[in-house]
Amino acid sequence: MGSILIDQLSKTYANRRKVPRGEEDAILCKGDRISVLLDIDLDIRDGEMVCFLGPSGCGKSTLLRIIAGFEAPSEGHVNINGQPVTGPSADHIFVFQHSGLFPWMTVSENVGLGLRHLKSHRDRQEQVQEFIDMVELDGFEQHYPRQLSGGMQRRAELARALAVNPDIMIMDEPFSGLDFLTHMKMREEVVNMHAFIRKTILLVTHNIDDALIMGDRIVILGNCPTRVVMDRTLDFPRPRDFEKSPDLSRLRSELFLLLGVNYAV
Ligand SMILES: Nc1ncnc2c1ncn2[C@@H]1O[C@H](COP(=O)(O)OP(=O)(O)OP(=O)(O)O)[C@@H](O)[C@H]1O
Ligand SMILES: [Mg+2]
Repeated sequence: MGSILIDQLSKTYANRRKVPRGEEDAILCKGDRISVLLDIDLDIRDGEMVCFLGPSGCGKSTLLRIIAGFEAPSEGHVNINGQPVTGPSADHIFVFQHSGLFPWMTVSENVGLGLRHLKSHRDRQEQVQEFIDMVELDGFEQHYPRQLSGGMQRRAELARALAVNPDIMIMDEPFSGLDFLTHMKMREEVVNMHAFIRKTILLVTHNIDDALIMGDRIVILGNCPTRVVMDRTLDFPRPRDFEKSPDLSRLRSELFLLLGVNYAV
């Protein structure tokens, strides 16, 4: 189960920014505090893949950190499966990180970490192999992370996430820094993985196409103080193709405009 209820969530930080005269209201300074997230309400269903978009610095990572329990909200609360979040929970949530692999462990050992509950060594190895095959890293089981390319490391991290089998997976810009083809491949792998495990995935991206191709839902956050400016369920059939779906293309242009780009590239 991985349902998430975000209720009237706000976050302020100590304001260390110099505010230009006349712009005080624009970034909502309350004395020495600066408001980053304001009155966020979201109800996320178990199994939903929600893609978050928004300008740089608007608070996407902050929101995910609060959901993951790494930070406390200033106001409001987050409930996961009906229980308030009071801190990080490795049982429920897996935070996908760029360099989340343990460098002193092989690919196989890293992936096996999430399967320690399996008593039989043979069962464990079989499952480890299954996840490694799924992300097409067979042949690299005994490699250490430093012996893999950046894209292969991300795929190994994906296999690790699959092995952990969390209720909720949090991915903050998981494709950043990847070359175009690896990015496309990883995107496809995450979509396939989601179709297979049907767990809740919260994914932050700067790439409108990623959000449209992947998401069951898109949430767009506005500028500071950040509110939800669009929350749209995407019921386009998969696999999604802009050329074959005029509605999807139209929404793409709409999102570019909403995010301040006048023509979609
Ligand atoms: N610990 C902190 N203390 C003070 N301010 C913070 C802290 N963490 C984040 N902020 C501020 O909160 C705002 C939102 O930051 P956040 O990292 O959530 O943005 P983001 O939407 O993830 O940006 P990007 O797309 O560039 O990753 C920024 O103005 C940042 O300076
Ligand atoms: Mg961020």
